Amino acid sequence: MEFPVKTGAPASQRTECAILPVFDDGRLLGATKELDTAARGLIKQLVRNGDASARLGATALIHRTQGTAATRWLLVGCGKAGDFNAKRFAAALGAAINALRGTGTKEAISYLGYAAPEAVPYQTARQTVEIARAALYRFDELKSRTDAAAKLARIGIGFPRGTDLADVRRGIKVGLAIANGSDLARDLGNRPPNVCTPSHLADTARQLAKKFPRMNVKVLTEVEMKRLGMGALLSVTQGAEEPARLIVLEYRGAGPKAAPIALCGKGVTFDTGGISLKPPPKMDEMKFDMCGAASVLGALAAIGELEPACNVVGVIPACENMPGGRATVPGDIVKSMSGQTIEIINTDAEGRLILCDAITYARRYKPRCLIDVATLTGACVVALGHVYTAVFSPDDKLAAELVAAGDRALDLAWRMPVHDEYGETLRSNFADVANSGTRDGGASVAANFLGRFTEGLRWAHLDIAGVAWRANANKGSTGRPVPLLVDFLLNSERQ
Ligand code: BES
Ligand code: MN
Ligand code: ZN
Repeated sequence: MEFPVKTGAPASQRTECAILPVFDDGRLLGATKELDTAARGLIKQLVRNGDASARLGATALIHRTQGTAATRWLLVGCGKAGDFNAKRFAAALGAAINALRGTGTKEAISYLGYAAPEAVPYQTARQTVEIARAALYRFDELKSRTDAAAKLARIGIGFPRGTDLADVRRGIKVGLAIANGSDLARDLGNRPPNVCTPSHLADTARQLAKKFPRMNVKVLTEVEMKRLGMGALLSVTQGAEEPARLIVLEYRGAGPKAAPIALCGKGVTFDTGGISLKPPPKMDEMKFDMCGAASVLGALAAIGELEPACNVVGVIPACENMPGGRATVPGDIVKSMSGQTIEIINTDAEGRLILCDAITYARRYKPRCLIDVATLTGACVVALGHVYTAVFSPDDKLAAELVAAGDRALDLAWRMPVHDEYGETLRSNFADVANSGTRDGGASVAANFLGRFTEGLRWAHLDIAGVAWRANANKGSTGRPVPLLVDFLLNSERQ
């Protein structure tokens, strides 16, 4: 997929398809206006006749393009001009790509950000790349027959003459890196659990370390984890035949003295619930329970490509959660690497058990902050649905930075409450803490559990249970929150 920059006059630009915005008030703006003039008012007429709608996301493919050098026009509804913002731009472009996918078009030029109200060239370029790549993403590596139809391979991005092209090129570069990282995260999430095992995640990390000169990888086995005292992590993998791994992927973009940002990603490659077995409906979706790990690998892949001047370390606990004759049972008490003992009330609350040991391990890097990413609770899906990633942090500044990164990256996040009282029901009569409490406020209860292992750290927890994948007909991994994480890491470079 290529994204050439086009600054020629839109009406004389040769292309198989010019993607043109149409706004509500009937006034034609930007490139649409220029093409309309060249075509002697034809676009205005199409809009007036109702052949093209200004409703956000509506599309009309037009072949009568006389007077312009485009073979086709795709008129895309963009709503009210005054309301056109980054989010609406994303919706309009996504609709345009989907409309073109069904045609034979191999190449097009998007003018959706061309002189659009308040468009920032860097954002237009970056978002065009990310949105187009997401819309064209398919997971077909395990289909015997793939769609052989000609694919959209080139999307030009149109800008008015005089636009700062350095900004545009930087936007394309960042967009491509984020799209590549998101594709990696999507692929890992979509791969079936008999392919995407803990060892597969480890192999993926090894490939990244091989590909990027500033990256190093270490993969710990169960024997090594046992030596480190990771009793919580090991209790989760106990019922599984597939061996667990602790993956440590280091990116070195700054000097050895610069404290790294630590990212911990939950890598449960299949969550049956263990002895606290989940009910059958939708259990296949628990192959996505490694999407936190996938997003950390995806973010590091993007960082490897962009080479910012900061240090990052990814720590990924990876295992399966299976029932079995030797599996952990409710009531078992295990000792975490931190020294705290944990009574396992529910073996389905396994994410926090592997994360607490990963967090303790990450302390050896003395990170300037630690962010864990996990498909942690069903309660989070109830609270926020599939729109926002949940951000939990006692640190106001860190929480605000993550929310701001999500806003910039169009990968939304919403702050959720942390409070000691959420830990009341994690009290145990037999151990330091229980792994499960009330279902009420369950996402905050889980965050409270993790918080017990973060003393002295600047820490935030991202619960991505609602956003990491789509269910139903369009089932598949979204690659979120790779854009948020990369934006956060790039921004940290400046601080
Ligand atoms: N991986 C699940 C969380 C999950 C469930 C994410 C459904 C997305 C959709 C996690 O391991 C889990 O099972 N959590 C339990 C915790 C409970 C036992 C305290 C949950 O949310 O029910
Ligand atoms: Mn579970
Ligand atoms: Zn889980």
